[in-house]
Amino acid sequence: MQQHVSRSAEEWRATTLRKAQEKAAERKDRFETSSHIPVQPLYTAEDVQAFDLHERIGFPGEFPYTRGVQPTMYRSRLWTMRQYAGFGTAEESNKRYHYLLSQGTTGLSVAFDLPTQIGYDADHALSEGEVGKVGVSISSLEDMEILLAGLPLERISTSMTINATASILLALYIAVAKKQGADLRKISGTIQNDVLKEYIARGTYIYPPQHSMRIITDIFQYCAENIPRWNTISISGYHIREAGSTAAQEIAFTLSNAISYVQAALDAGLNVDKFAGQLSFFFNCHNNFFEEIAKFRAARQMWAHIMRERFHAQDPRSLMLRFHTQTAGSTLTAQQPDNNVVRTAYQAMAAVLGGTQSLHTNSKDEALSLPTEDSARLALRTQQILGYETGVADVVDPLAGSYFVESLTAQLEEQAWAYIQKIDELGGSVRAIELGYMQSEIEQAAYTYQLALEQEEAIVVGVNRFTQQHEPPAELLRVDPAIGRGQAAKLAALRLRRDNEQVQQRLQALEAAARDSENLMPLIIEAVEAYATLGEISDTLRHIFGEQHEFRSFDA
Ligand code: 3HC
Repeated sequence: MQQHVSRSAEEWRATTLRKAQEKAAERKDRFETSSHIPVQPLYTAEDVQAFDLHERIGFPGEFPYTRGVQPTMYRSRLWTMRQYAGFGTAEESNKRYHYLLSQGTTGLSVAFDLPTQIGYDADHALSEGEVGKVGVSISSLEDMEILLAGLPLERISTSMTINATASILLALYIAVAKKQGADLRKISGTIQNDVLKEYIARGTYIYPPQHSMRIITDIFQYCAENIPRWNTISISGYHIREAGSTAAQEIAFTLSNAISYVQAALDAGLNVDKFAGQLSFFFNCHNNFFEEIAKFRAARQMWAHIMRERFHAQDPRSLMLRFHTQTAGSTLTAQQPDNNVVRTAYQAMAAVLGGTQSLHTNSKDEALSLPTEDSARLALRTQQILGYETGVADVVDPLAGSYFVESLTAQLEEQAWAYIQKIDELGGSVRAIELGYMQSEIEQAAYTYQLALEQEEAIVVGVNRFTQQHEPPAELLRVDPAIGRGQAAKLAALRLRRDNEQVQQRLQALEAAARDSENLMPLIIEAVEAYATLGEISDTLRHIFGEQHEFRSFDA
């Protein structure tokens, strides 16, 4: 039998590969990921020999959690199928939540309209045309009671995508839980509460950074003491990626923001292991399948080191990066919307192979409008097929040891560390945002990708290739613009019915606390329980904290 002589990759490239390339040129001169990491034709043990792989990635459920935060991952419990939903009135959204639960979602995720997100009641002049449009309209405890009607808050976890007014929505949720007689130490869920990324990429902020950070750390402290199963923040890379960042920037800017939140909590006198276990994260899952899987593994590994080495956290829960994933909204196309089902399925598989704890799969019509019931159900079925039919949930971190995935994980990490170091040199995330550094980096990345699209170096099926002429209009969900008038009438009736003297007392107490350093959460809870509205509470804080206007982009 011929003796097998081991060959180096270099020898293979210089002989077999070269001959093949001469015979048939490769499709492109250069293959690379979104983070501009070159993609070689082949990866071998030589590409991971720079480090001791076993030492570097460890085991699932153990430091540095590269391979997953749970020892058994989905073998014990599938990821939470948590479909982001909310539109129109509290009644309409409540109906959709019950529908999704009846179809098999295992967690709730509330989308709020813009007035709710930036602290205006439905009857405010600035709310005109936006009430109930991109999410549900919530102005008072009355709305919140309707939103959560029939939902057992001790048994389901609820995510709320709310940032500048996160303290108020958390207070409303707590008030409803108390009315249900729920044990606050048992309710679980998440508020996004990540205002730094709002300054960078999403825009629903109200107050200047130092006041936003104060509210956020007040929430950390309140929840550590009163609702220990609540995730106090969902530090988000999703929107940074949607704004056009690369995968490496998504990791780096998210973790830099996380570092700033932890530092702010420590500066406020909190003990790291008292609050860090309630931090959570939220990432995008984009098109480049292997880069996205490597991104999640790199992020977990980096966060474990940051929390142990930079912040000296001891509790294992402080070291685990637990995250939710949403498939990439920016990859959805208005053209040939059925193609979006396929894109979302691939992205969802990458998120699961990357070890996500919770997942939202986009609906095929979301490039055109909020999802219909049918498209939301198909998006959920996509997760259920992934979890129950493909086998990918039956083994932990199956791609570990892949020369390509481990090499990508290491290279993404290297890029991300360099960005984090740069942001540290600028003085941390808040300073970097004030300078417009992250915004500028994202703008550059987005511009580069747009050029690639226009030059057809990047292909989007149905958009710049494989297009179709005529496409039948899809059935779209429309929100009735008259909702605003109905909400305004409800608010007028509420203001007549409530004890306005008590409301004023509660708002004055909140104003006094905002001027001082008292934790705001108990006072906000008392205010909402007196049926003070979201707008009245936000205005009370605006009066003390002022409002933040857009940061100028960085003049590189
Ligand atoms: N073995 C043992 N226990 C396990 C397990 C396993 N294999 N897997 C999970 N568990 C346990 C967990 O430990 C946990 O128990 P605990 O509550 O006692 O700690 C329980 O099962 C639930 O598991 P997870 O905590 O992992 O899952 P959740 O779904 O409850 O939480 C999260 C996930 C990421 C930590 C949480 O923060 C979350 O749900 N985030 C969701 C955020 C979200 O939905 N955001 C939507 C944003 S939409 C948006 O912004 C986009 C828009 O702007 C366009």
